[in-house]
Parts: sequence; structure tokens; C-alpha cells
Amino acid sequence: MIRDLDWEAAINVRRSARSFEMNPVEESKMNMLHSFISEMELPFEHDVAIRMFKANTDKKLYTVFNSPPDGMAFIANTDVLSVAKVGFVGEMLVLYATSLGLATCWYGHYTLMELERMMPHLGEYAKLANPKWGYGTGEVQGKRAVCITPIGYWKQEGVRLFDRMQQAVISYKRKPISALLEGDTKEENLTPELLYAIDLARKAASAANSQHWRFHVSSDLKTITISMPVGYKHIKWEHPDVDLGICACHFWLGLVMKNIDSKVSLEEEHGHAVWRFEI
Ligand SMILES: Cc1cc2nc3c(=O)[nH]c(=O)nc-3n(C[C@H](O)[C@H](O)[C@H](O)COP(=O)(O)O)c2cc1C
Repeated sequence: MIRDLDWEAAINVRRSARSFEMNPVEESKMNMLHSFISEMELPFEHDVAIRMFKANTDKKLYTVFNSPPDGMAFIANTDVLSVAKVGFVGEMLVLYATSLGLATCWYGHYTLMELERMMPHLGEYAKLANPKWGYGTGEVQGKRAVCITPIGYWKQEGVRLFDRMQQAVISYKRKPISALLEGDTKEENLTPELLYAIDLARKAASAANSQHWRFHVSSDLKTITISMPVGYKHIKWEHPDVDLGICACHFWLGLVMKNIDSKVSLEEEHGHAVWRFEI
């Protein structure tokens, strides 16, 4: 099923939407999302839960824009590796939703207590939850909605100034491959297939568009790792491993599109996730 979709097109058209029509997603598309979730086969084990929720169409959840009626939450434990898997698994859903013509926006700084009211999931940990935004900083007890996304229809008129600025100044800008390669293997040494996969990977979304992923390709071009610079920290975003998972998802889809099988593994180094692809 995964091989049948045009992931390149989905990656190229996806943009974070922050202005929505207040219409629910049609039942047929919801059913397709549910089927995709239950049939999705990924190259690693995970226990990320994907839950659809119904939201009030006010600003309480996302604070800077009105929520459309539908949303999707990515729920997992909060250790570094689980959070990295949230990025990968969640991005499969975000891209699939995009291919159905739905708009999305990865969101980390949503209001947790508002989400809990609409979609109870914290159980005994509800009282420990960060009442401000997101699930908190670092590893916490129990499973949390690490990120959420609205799902719906982009409202074209009335695009807010903030949106336009994001699009013009931040969103469409991505670092070139040469700035993201570490080690001795340079861009000109890569095969067309690896260049293709890295090009899709560099187009991944990241909080505040920080693009903190770095690629290392072994000299025999058989092992590719995706990691972040040692000691990386972002002043506003507490969970940069999510973004790394999104990037790894794009890279894997690039390999899939080129019919290249890979063994995917994930380990923690210097407190952050490192994705390894052996092809
Ligand atoms: C993990 C993650 C968390 C994000 N959290 C927020 C958020 O809390 N608020 C927001 O306005 N945008 C958020 N974004 C959207 C980013 O700002 C956006 O992806 C980035 O600027 C690139 O733009 P693009 O998605 O249109 O390509 C988040 C993105 C990611 C990947």
C-alpha cells in the first residue's frame, strides 16, 4: 500500500496551514485515514497511538488560530526514542492526509488541558500535566499527546499576516544538501537515488523551521545516519527529536520511491535519537 502513493508530491505540496474552513472532514476521508492507520507497515517497532478528536472551533487549542472541527493526536511515551518515532509515524499520517487534499499543521505548543477535555488520555497523570502548553519538558511519566495537528480545509481568504510572513520568510526556505552533509562524503559522491532521498528529507517540517538534522553517509554509500549536532538545543522547542523523526520518514519514503530496501534502526547518542539506514 505504501508503495502505491506519490509521496514526493505529498512532500512537495504540504505546508503548515494556520487558517481553516470550519467544516468537518468528510466521513469517507476519515475512513481512509483510519484504514491507513490500521494497515500502515513501518520498518521498525513502535507503540505510537494515533487518535482522531473533535475540537471546538475556537482558539483554545492552538491559541493563535481557530481549530477546525477535526484533529489528530500522536500519543506516546516521552523518552527520546519514543518521541523520535512520533515524528516518523505522525508524518506518515500528515503526508497521507495531504494526499487526500487535507491541510495540517504539526503543533507542539497546543493547550494540553483543552486537548484533555476533548480527548481524555492522561489518566492518573492528568494532575501532573503542564497547564500551559504541550506535554511539558523532558521525559515525564505516562503517555502523552506529544504533538497534534488540525485536519481540515485550508481557508484561502483571510490568510493572516502571520501566515503570509511564515510562508514568505520561513516556511519555503530550506537549507541546501551541501549544508546538511557531515563527514567526508560530499554531495557529488552521492548516487542519484541517495540525492533524491536526502532532497525529500531536507524538505521536512521542523518547529520554527530550525532544520537541525544532519546527514552522514559512509564512504561505501551503504550506511546513512540522520542525527542532530551534539549539544543541539532550541530556545523554544523542547522536543527536537520529533523533527528528526519527520526527516527520517521523508528519507525512508525517498528510498521506498526508488525501490531501495533498507534496514532502519534507532538509538540514543548524546541524549538524542540517531536514525540509521543500511541499504
Ligand atoms: C514538531 C513540530 C512542532 C511544531 N509546533 C508548532 C507550534 O507549536 N506552533 C506553530 O505555529 N507551528 C508549529 N510547527 C510548524 C512549523 O513552524 C513549520 O513546520 C515550519 O515553519 C516549516 O513550515 P512548513 O511546515 O510550512 O514547511 C511545528 C512543526 C513541527 C515539525
